[in-house]
Formats: sequence, structure tokens, C-alpha cells
Amino acid sequence: MDQASQIREKIDIVSFISEYLQLKKAGRNFKANCPFHNEDTPSFIISPERQIWHCFGCGKGGDAFTFLMDYENMEFPEALRILAKKTGIVLKESSFQASHYSEKEKIFTLNNLSLKYYHYILLNHPSAKNALDYLINQRKINKGIIETFEIGFSPTQSGLCAYLMQKKGFQKKDLLDAGLAFEARDRIFDFFRGRIMFPLFDHRGNVTGFSGRTLDEKINPPKYINTKETAVYHKGSMFFGLNSAKDEIKKEQSAIIVEGEFDVISLFKEGMKNVVAIKGTALTEDQVALLARFTPKVSLCLDQDSAGFEATKRSLAVLEKRGMVTTIILPKNAKDPDEAIKNNPLEFKKAVKNDVGIYDFLISKFLEENDSNKIEGKKKITDNLLLFFSQISNEVVKEHYLKKLSKEIDVSLESLNKELDKLQKGAVEEKIATQEKQKRTRRELLEEYLIALLIQEENSKEILEIIGLNLKNYKFQASVFEKILEKTKTFLASHERMDGKKLSAALPSELLTAFDACYLFPLPKFSSEEECSLEVERVVKELNSLGVKEKIREETVKLRQDLDPAETEKIEREIKELLSVLPKTIN
Ligand code: CTP
Ligand code: MN
Repeated sequence: MDQASQIREKIDIVSFISEYLQLKKAGRNFKANCPFHNEDTPSFIISPERQIWHCFGCGKGGDAFTFLMDYENMEFPEALRILAKKTGIVLKESSFQASHYSEKEKIFTLNNLSLKYYHYILLNHPSAKNALDYLINQRKINKGIIETFEIGFSPTQSGLCAYLMQKKGFQKKDLLDAGLAFEARDRIFDFFRGRIMFPLFDHRGNVTGFSGRTLDEKINPPKYINTKETAVYHKGSMFFGLNSAKDEIKKEQSAIIVEGEFDVISLFKEGMKNVVAIKGTALTEDQVALLARFTPKVSLCLDQDSAGFEATKRSLAVLEKRGMVTTIILPKNAKDPDEAIKNNPLEFKKAVKNDVGIYDFLISKFLEENDSNKIEGKKKITDNLLLFFSQISNEVVKEHYLKKLSKEIDVSLESLNKELDKLQKGAVEEKIATQEKQKRTRRELLEEYLIALLIQEENSKEILEIIGLNLKNYKFQASVFEKILEKTKTFLASHERMDGKKLSAALPSELLTAFDACYLFPLPKFSSEEECSLEVERVVKELNSLGVKEKIREETVKLRQDLDPAETEKIEREIKELLSVLPKTIN
């Protein structure tokens, strides 16, 4: 047995996943809200018997390894190391060689070396003197903070390339893949030159990339540049600061979201350590999903200009979708939190303490900007606010704000609700339309249900018989289920009873996801084997008639073409025959 299989045998997937998600018992399985897509009712199922998981909402599934790799966005070798440690298995050299150094790991290693290099330069090299002066004197950042955030400086000449290639033996291609260098006129140059360097970590402490701030926007624009997209750096799915803030965020059960690196650092200096930065972009669903692992509440403290307000509004939609509680922090007379703290740290702390519910803020903002005594004013206020209120997922919260608005502008709750209904109907229709596009057909669902009955119920042999008798000429719409049926037949021919674990071990890997879905399919409870058999018969008959109807439809389409009389007659005969079996298959 290879070591990965040893680990799979030893680990308990239920207790492992319960470190990440809140599990509830569901029959012989466990269920949870899926971490890989948005949902309020759990469709993520774990089977302790087979040590697998499957989500019926988004279709993802697998074992402890795939869970860890998907959840933490890591590669197999790292998952192997972590799970080996958990199960107390000492990895042999050969376990690594199979999958050796992945591309991502190589980039992490390169980034880490670069971080050390930039950091050393900032603290020790004469060429970084201006940068160090700027940080210490103008931005009031001391050496301790420089150490904590591992801030660095990239020299104006391409020193990093030389260091990594000549001293550390890396290839040109490695540097390009990591986004640390670029090529021009057949030569290679450092991507970051003459900039203050902030390393960007993922929440597990890997260096995914850098952002570099210029010392002078006139000489060396733009103000900030970031690592381009690489195998490990994706701008929209990370935060600056999350790595060092996540424990505090968990403890406080709240995260402050700011725009920039210096905002995070200034708050940190004043002892506020639950702070992350979106780096000047709008908050994305990926970012919120990441943050939701640590806290149910966030406080937005973006820039105090119209761009900041737009970003706040857009962020709210994404936060509400995840059901996050959102407040806003409103510092006075400052363009951003960094400046506010410089002006008056105490005042800023007060603003943090007095954070305002985001909907309360929006109500007062739109009331301020419009005359609520005039009809146009009322209309403007409600047009704007109802759009936000319609996104609120909690009905109690929604009603609370509708009532507040109703009082403020002296309009009945009933009218507000009517307007809200109009808005929501439009949204619901849209949702249904997109869901319908992705929806699986009834036939496909019934096929899955049938196989689920076959492999989960006690009387598998009898079920197989019913299928054999009734589904003779049926062609499965989803061929995976047909293949699983064939494999199950073979299995039951040589085994006394059904054994999902053994059967799955004999399946080719491309059938496993579909098999797991059937294995974990939530079946109704049958009071007896007879009742179960009756259900199987009902499903089989419906499938049969759906299959026949489909064939009739196909034949009828053929008739529309220009055919010679003989062919037409042949098709008509076939349709007749099909029609004649139809009543028998319908109960
Ligand atoms: N940003 C970026 N790329 C840019 C501009 C900004 O990634 N070209 C990100 C940076 O993370 C920056 C944040 O957006 O910290 C906020 O931008 P801005 O308000 O323009 O920066 P300032 O707060 O003025 O920057 P600083 O504090 O460094 O003077
Ligand atoms: Mn700013």
C-alpha cells in the first residue's frame, strides 16, 4: 500500500472535516453547509463508512486529501505532509519523489527568498537609505513594524535576478513564472525596482506575491504595482494582512476591512490587529468566503471619497449574499484610516467603537441627500434603499429597516412592501431562469435515484431483478449511471450482498464522483422491503415511459424531413409500436 492510502485508512474524515465545518448528524452520514458554494441548507454530505464527502449543490466531492487541497488551495505534496503529520505516519523519501516539487511550491520558495532579500536590503543596504527614512520619518513606522510585516526594498538595478540565478541556482523561467522578473531585448530584469516592498501572504503564511510602493510618484509611477497573476497569486482572492490578523479576527469575531497596506499597518500600531486590506479593489465573493471562515461580522472602513462609497455599496451585496453582519466605521475629517489615526488616534478608536449598522448608515445618507418632505425626494430615497433592502437575507432584519424607513419618510409599511415585492419578483424570475438553464433533467435525476436505491438498500439483488425485468430497452440519459449499473450487476453476481466500499474500489476513477453521489443520496425511509421494491418499480416505470416518449419525439422529428413513402411508412409503424407500449408503462 502506498503511504497516501495508509493515511486514508488511518484518518477519520468526520473528525478531520469537523475542524473546518460545523457538522450535523444525518442518518448514518453527516452534513454541513458546503464551503465551496453559497447555501443556507446543507447539501454537503460526509460518509464515515466510506471516508468520502460529496456536495449535492455544487457537485464537488472526494476524500480527505481533495477536501484539504480544495479548501486550503494547496497541492498534493503539502496535503500529504499535513495529513501524514496528523496521522503520525512518517513519510518516506519516495512519497515525495512521485509528485516532487510542484510549480506552486517552487514559486513559494522563490518568493520567500525574495522576501528575505528585499528585507535585508531595506535594513542594511545604503541604496535603501531614502526608503528607510521615508518609512520611519514620514510614515512613522518603526523597525519593529518593519520586522513584523517583513517590509523590504527592491533596489533600482536588477539585483534580485542576479541573486536568485547566480547565488541560488534558479533558471530564468522560474523567475518569470513567479512574476519576479520580465524579459526585454533577450535580457531579464527585476519586475520590482526602487520600491518599498510589502510581501503578500495567503492565510497560511505562504508568500504569494508582493506589492511595491514607489518612493516618488512623479519619477516612478504608478504609486503601487502588484505581482501579476501567477499560479499562486490571484488578486481577487486574497487580503493583505489576513495571515497575521486571522487569530485576532477569530478572537474578536469581527474583521475591519480597509483599502491599503498603510491602513492595516497604522491600525496595527494602535493595537487594532483584526484588520485586512482589499488593496483598492472591490470585495469579491472569494474574499468574503475566506473571511467567513474566521468571523460572521465585518466593519467596512474604506476611503472617505465617492470611490470609497461606491466600493462600500458594491461590497455590501457580496457580504449580504454570505449572510455576514456588516457595519461601517466613519472616521471624521480624514481621507482614509491611516490619515485618521495620524490626526487623532483616540478619535479614531472612538469611531471604531461606534461603528454603525450599514443599513442605518445608508438610510441616514440618503435622507441627508434628499428632501423627504417632497414626493421626488421620497421616491429617490426609496428607489435607492429598497434595492439594498431587497438583498437582506434575514426577514427580521429586513422588517426592522423597512419599519425604520417607513417612519422616517412617513410612508406606510404596506406601500414599501409592495414596492419591494415588485423588485424581488424580478430578481426571483431571473434566478429561476439561470437555474433552469443549469438544471438536470428529470430523467437524469431519476436515474441517479434508481442507482442510489440499488446500492444503498438491503435488498439489492431483488432491486436488480426488477430493473432487469422492466428496463430492457431503456437507454440511460447519463451514461455514468448505466456503467455503474453494469458494474453493480457484475459485483452482485459474485458477492452475496452489496458492499459499497468493495464495489467502489473496483470502479474506474471516472465513475467515482457519480458513484459517491448515489451512495450519499438522501433516500426516503421505507418501512419494509416491499415498500422499497414498489418504489423501485414506480421509478423504473416512469423512466421507461420517459424513454419511450423521448424516442417518439425523435421519430416524429424525422417525419418533418423530405422522405420517400417507404421510409415514412417505416417510421410511422415504429411510432405506432412505441405508442402501443406506452399505456402499459404508465400506471
Ligand atoms: N492600489 C493598488 N494599485 C494602484 C493603486 C492602489 O494596488 N495602482 C492599492 C494599494 O494597496 C493601496 C490601496 O489600493 O494601498 C489604496 O490606494 P490609494 O488610496 O491610492 O493609496 P493611498 O492610501 O493614497 O496610498 P499611501 O497610503 O501609500 O500613500
Ligand atoms: Mn488610501
